[in-house]
This record gives sequence, C-alpha cells and structure tokens, in this order.
Amino acid sequence: MKIKYYDLIQQTFDFPQPEFKVEEGKLFFHDIPLMDLIEKFGTPFKFNYLPKISQNIQQTKRWFKKAFKENNYKNNYRYCYCTKSSHFSFVLEEVLKNKISLETSFSNDMEIIRKIYKKGLVKQDIEVICNGFKTDEYLRTISEMINGGFSNIIPVLDNFRELDLLSDSIDTTFNVGIRIASEEEPKFEFYTSRLGIGYRDIVPFYAQKIQNHPHARLKMLHFFINTGIKDTSYYWNELYKCLRVYARLKKLAPEVDSLNIGGGFPIKTSLNFEYDYYYMINEITYQIKKFCEEEGVEEPTIYTEFGSYTVGESGGIIYKILNQKRQNDREKWNMINSSFMTTLPDSWAISRRFLMLPINRWEDSYERVFLGGLTCDSDDYYNSEQHVNAIYLPIYSEDKPLYIGFFNTGAYQDSISGFGGIHHCLVPQPKHILIDKNKEGEFSYKIFREEQTYKEILDILGY
Ligand SMILES: Cc1ncc(COP(=O)(O)O)c(C=O)c1O
Repeated sequence: MKIKYYDLIQQTFDFPQPEFKVEEGKLFFHDIPLMDLIEKFGTPFKFNYLPKISQNIQQTKRWFKKAFKENNYKNNYRYCYCTKSSHFSFVLEEVLKNKISLETSFSNDMEIIRKIYKKGLVKQDIEVICNGFKTDEYLRTISEMINGGFSNIIPVLDNFRELDLLSDSIDTTFNVGIRIASEEEPKFEFYTSRLGIGYRDIVPFYAQKIQNHPHARLKMLHFFINTGIKDTSYYWNELYKCLRVYARLKKLAPEVDSLNIGGGFPIKTSLNFEYDYYYMINEITYQIKKFCEEEGVEEPTIYTEFGSYTVGESGGIIYKILNQKRQNDREKWNMINSSFMTTLPDSWAISRRFLMLPINRWEDSYERVFLGGLTCDSDDYYNSEQHVNAIYLPIYSEDKPLYIGFFNTGAYQDSISGFGGIHHCLVPQPKHILIDKNKEGEFSYKIFREEQTYKEILDILGY
C-alpha cells in the first residue's frame, strides 16, 4: 500500500502544529480554510493574516515581562517595529494597536510617520528610531519633524557627519543614539559592519562632540547583529563588547538610558523549527543585568526592533501546480502559476527556505519533485526544504488540481521584489488578500490589491 502524504508528514514531524491542521485532506492555517480561499479568490495569491502580527508582539512583551521579573531587572522593555520588513499600511495599522515604537531606515519612511499622524493613528509623541546611513534628505526630514513638534524622534547616528548636519538644522533639545559597528561573523566577507561607528571610537566621539553639545543628548546605544539573535559564542561576545561600551558611556553620560539590541529573532521556516525564544530573552536580560551590576551602573531600557518576527509569520503565498514536466527518468518539474524569483525573491537571491506544504490532497500518495517558476530563467526554481534536500508533494494528476502554499513569507519579500513594479518576464504581481478575525472567531477577507493587469505593466514601461 502506498504511503499517504499525510503519513509522511506525521512520520517526519510532530504534526498537527499550533498553526497547521489538516481536515479531509485539506490544510488549515490558523484555522483559515485555505481551500475555501482558493475557491473564492483563485490563484496565485499572497495573503496576510493580520492577527498574527499582534499575537507575536504581545507574546514578546510577555516574555520580556517574565524575564525581567525572573532577573529582577529594574528598567523597561520597549518593542519597536522595524518598518522596512513590511511598510504596508495594513501592517502599520495592526502593529500600532500594541503600544509600540517604530524604526525607520530612509527619508520616505518619515513620510509614512507624517501620514499616519495626519490620519490620527499616532500622536506627535510617537517614538521613532531613525536608523540607517542618512542622506541629506533624510536628515532634513528628521530635523523638520523634530522642529515641528515630534518630540520623540531619536536619530541613531551612523557616522560623525550626521550629528553636524542635525545640529545645524534642529533648534531645540533633541535625543540621539549611536549605532555600534559590530564585528561580522568570522566566515563573513568583511570584518566590521559598514553600518555604525566602531567600538573604540564611540567614547571619544561622545566626549568630543556630544558631552558639551548645547542641544543634543545621548540617549541610546544601538547594536544589531546581522546574523540574528542566536545562541552562539559570536553573539554573546558581541553583546559583551557592546555592554562594555554601554558601561563606559554610562559612567561619563548618565543620560544614556537605553540599549537597543536591534532585530534578528528568527521565524519558523520548517515544521521542525526549534528555537527557544524565552531562553534567549531570559539570557540576554540576565547578561545585561549581571554586567551592569558588576560595573555598578543602572541597567538600561532594552529596545528590540523585530521585523521578520513581527510580520513574517503573518504572510503566505498560494500557487497552483499548472502542469508536470518530466525531463528525464528522475526529474519531475511541477510548474507553478507564478514565479519564485519575483514573488519570493529571497528564495532565489540568498537561497532562503520557507515553510512549504500542499493545501489539498493530503490523503494521496506522494512523489519527489522540483518546483519551477514561470520565468524563462533557469534560476527560477525551488528544490529543497529546510530539513531535507528535496521536495515531496502529492502525486501530480491532470484530473485533481494540486495547490501549494509557502508560509511565513510576510517580511521583506514585497519590498525586495518591488510591489507594483515590473517583474522578470513580466510575470504579474499576484492578488493580495488580507485576512482578519473578529472576537467571535469569524474570519473576514478583503482584497488589498488585485493581480496586476497587463495594462498596468505596460503603463509602467511607458507604452
Ligand atoms: C537596524 C535594524 N533593526 C532591525 C532590523 C530587523 O531585523 P529582523 O527583520 O531580522 O528582525 C534590521 C534588519 O536589517 C536592521 O538593520
């Protein structure tokens, strides 16, 4: 007897899982009946399940609260949403339900802040952490907003020049942060991050430029590890170096009261994903607390800027298998009705793996396949999962359509692929659906954008 796809999954993983279950051979994501959505909207489509955004924010706040209690940590925790992971208005509207701060990376981000202020979604005292290497335009916008009454904007200095330009254009007292340029992981192509100011230069810079500044007040030390928050000696070593700078600064500048540890919480990319979030939060809290006690300085307010973790697990994309091509005895290509390169650019550019599952036919037997995208680019394919160097799906049949979903794709993919732009081979941007749930547990669906039409594409191209 042939083994069903469902049996394969149950033998390989703990399944069902909190967000996935299967009924009558059909997959449900957070109880959302995905086959019903396919029938209602057709494929391909991207979606965001909005409640997951608030759930992840609230969960993180609870973890920090618990860790602070356990470690008798005397200062506060602040959740900041890093807008670059998804700038969409529906994401900002959801995150703002949770009393959070925002982090920006470019001047256009600041226009989003102005817009949400005009719409009444935030007040002028919204806390905004401005990161990134700042162009004159970005610095001008920050200055204008601070002069205009946005009292909690914190430009995080990426280099010395930024303070000079801000000092010239801001006419009131303002807070700044300094970004530490972390050392990259040993296997990386360069030694020190291009972002921020080197460890050794920070205290002299403070003493020369900020200590006696008439308006600028150093509030925050910012540190972000490109490889994410991981339980590795590299991570703990960088955190330790950062804490040494914090303690030295704090002794010189008692007004420094915040340590921003950036983003970098991982998200689930496979059904066997294991990451102990609470352990990491507890350990970070413990390390900071212990270090500050040893140094005799007050522990800082801890800020995080989780991007992927805030929005990644809310997103997904559903494709249909259009056909199967057999190129030889071993290689079966299941062709999807869109493109990986353009809808999940990280899968192509940095070989990122996402959680992939069929939406229907879980009761059928399975086969090993490759997944091919519609562009004529040979790189437009997906052929392995996080846990195994292969893909297994229910056996292709012309009579029984097969749908597949990629999950937890909500961060970065739309901005990197250029939402609304033109895409490789002019494959259109798929329809985008928003899913919400009310207090009674009923789902509601809204089309945020229809699939791009050829007219829109030709228009962009100037025809
Ligand atoms: C300064 C800063 N903060 C936060 C983030 C968000 O990181 P993640 O999406 O991994 O949480 C980034 C990502 O590049 C970043 O550069």
